[in-house]
Amino acid sequence: MQTGSEIDPNPTLTNEPQKLLRAVAAMGAKKQATPDVATEESIVRFSSVQKTYDGETLVVKSLDLDVRRGEFLSLLGPSGSGKTTTLMMLAGFESPTAGEITLNGRPITRTPPHKRNFGMVFQNYALFPHMTIAQNVAYPLTVRRAPKAEIAKRVANALSMVQLTGKDDRLPAQLSGGQQQRVALARAMVFEPQLVLMDEPLGALDKQLREHMQIELKELHRKLGVTFVYVTHDQGEALTMSDRVAVFNEGCIQQIDVVSSLYESPSNRFVAGFVGDSTTLVGTLGSSAGDSCELILPTGERLRGFNANASSPGDSVLASIRPERVIAQFEASEQLPNTVRAAVTNVIYFGDHRRLRCAVAGQAEATVKLPLSDASTPVAGQPVWLTFPHPHLRVYA
Ligand SMILES: Nc1ncnc2c1ncn2[C@@H]1O[C@H](COP(=O)(O)OP(=O)(O)OP(=O)(O)O)[C@@H](O)[C@H]1O
Ligand SMILES: [Mg+2]
Repeated sequence: MQTGSEIDPNPTLTNEPQKLLRAVAAMGAKKQATPDVATEESIVRFSSVQKTYDGETLVVKSLDLDVRRGEFLSLLGPSGSGKTTTLMMLAGFESPTAGEITLNGRPITRTPPHKRNFGMVFQNYALFPHMTIAQNVAYPLTVRRAPKAEIAKRVANALSMVQLTGKDDRLPAQLSGGQQQRVALARAMVFEPQLVLMDEPLGALDKQLREHMQIELKELHRKLGVTFVYVTHDQGEALTMSDRVAVFNEGCIQQIDVVSSLYESPSNRFVAGFVGDSTTLVGTLGSSAGDSCELILPTGERLRGFNANASSPGDSVLASIRPERVIAQFEASEQLPNTVRAAVTNVIYFGDHRRLRCAVAGQAEATVKLPLSDASTPVAGQPVWLTFPHPHLRVYA
């Protein structure tokens, strides 16, 4: 993977993007004849984009994705799901096998990376080894021929943002991996590009610095109003930083949504299992009317749930609920509707909550998060009645 190529290495070419944009605008004129609302809102659009490296396997299957102007969008998904490939196509380092990518409504599929004018930080953040830290960070401004005083000011700000003030005159080899990564971040942002692409940019940092940088990046995003496309496989990072998250699996977007909806209303089994903790129940779908349905457990017990993706009666289904939504009661007399009897197998203290592990007949172990305000003192082996409030028990085909 290359980096540094976001910046035209040849300063004599710095006027090229303008020319190219005009040329591309002419090419895209037909498509622009009837702009729709979404095009005006979105800065980047992937339309039916596919990618194969070997001519056989599609690692990106058929991607339709709008990146909205000014948003912080994260691409989240397991290893190999196509996140980096998607970002590489947007950056211009990989070409789509089929489909089209537009920037501000104009095709960029043939625009080389350095003419896209994006800020970029990749896992493999190549700095220019022969240049000092200050020169590395200044580079995008130098090639754009910014005034010297302005360059000095911006470089100082950028280095302060990544907590590297005072390291200006070092060479990259004289910094730690994490420090080099922060230089790459500073370099990507220093010219305030309209779009910043990042691929796991905080991977090499320790937990404390990573959390600091997450807050810094989010704050920077808010201040600059720049659009961020951010690849991560760390869901905590995606949820805390993003406006929207696109969940990838096997080359497809499974769901793209604002963070709260992604967590509260996953649209399928994969998203429910991948984002956040879940307690699951297997069963068969009984009757179903509108969003409401009946889940028949292997024991014959029936629970009411939310039919999340249109299962039909008789289907084998998986129901999923967030552990903090499950209500645990330790007295048989206080039973609520939608309750199943179980047995406590383990109580784990987490500091900010306690977590019960419970054995439920015919099911995987169920997890329940008990808030600290819960005064009960459950012990392993005792019976527990678990209530699954109906709207939160989401049933998936
Ligand atoms: N240059 C390449 N040549 C051939 N196959 C590739 C290449 N780059 C990626 N792949 C394959 O494409 C698929 C998607 O890879 P990609 O790097 O996009 O995944 P990812 O979601 O970024 O994963 P990770 O979280 O591990 O970085 C994987 O199966 C990978 O092996
Ligand atoms: Mg990747």
